[in-house]
Amino acid sequence: MSNLVIVDHPLVTHKISMIRDKNTNTRDFRTLVSEIAMLIGYEATRDLPLYPKRFSTPLMEAEFKMLSSMDVAVVPILRAGLGMVDGILSLLPTAKVGHIGLYRDHDTLEPVEYYCKLPSDLDLRQVFVLDPMLATGGSASAAINFIKQRGAKKIKLLCIVAAPLGVERITKDHPDVTIYCGALDERLNDKGYILPGLGDAGDRLFGTQ
Ligand code: PRP
Ligand code: URA
Repeated sequence: MSNLVIVDHPLVTHKISMIRDKNTNTRDFRTLVSEIAMLIGYEATRDLPLYPKRFSTPLMEAEFKMLSSMDVAVVPILRAGLGMVDGILSLLPTAKVGHIGLYRDHDTLEPVEYYCKLPSDLDLRQVFVLDPMLATGGSASAAINFIKQRGAKKIKLLCIVAAPLGVERITKDHPDVTIYCGALDERLNDKGYILPGLGDAGDRLFGTQ
């Protein structure tokens, strides 16, 4: 799985273990998802381009390297991807934010689209697609299709827990997309939930279970 990066830093692993715990409450779950997103985002932004800029320190003028505010867009998949936005924006505060609304049909597990609003200049940006759970991969694959139809050429998928089936699906459908995750779990149950996983990420983030 050459397009998979597992961010297995101890801080990430510890925080993921905390959100797996069914006794972790909604407030802590939200905070932890945001923190994990930031730590995974740190790794996923490693190859962002830097541009030269001349200015003065208190001692002398010189050329330094800076990120461009023009270069990035983040696209959470609703609902659960929303929980990762703040963590990524704390690293990239000027990024544009698109939204794709998808839910999994409970019987077919196929994604159903209900909302799509994306920045118009995606072709110029590194796009980070956010969704904490990569299960069958159907939702992420459909979201990446929308983003590609809107011209995006550089896409990374950031999730928190991935299942092997989802990784295989993205690798097959979108071999150009690198997946970053904090943990690669064992398998799915017969309802499409990741095992051992953390349950329904959207419900746990928003307290709707
Ligand atoms: C969850 C999750 C992903 C999707 C993953 O969303 O946030 O979007 O399932 O499953 P897949 O890889 O099999 O497509 P869900 O459909 O529960 O919607 P929600 O975020 O609104 O709760
Ligand atoms: N969506 C979730 O929220 N959790 C899973 O385990 C699978 C899909």
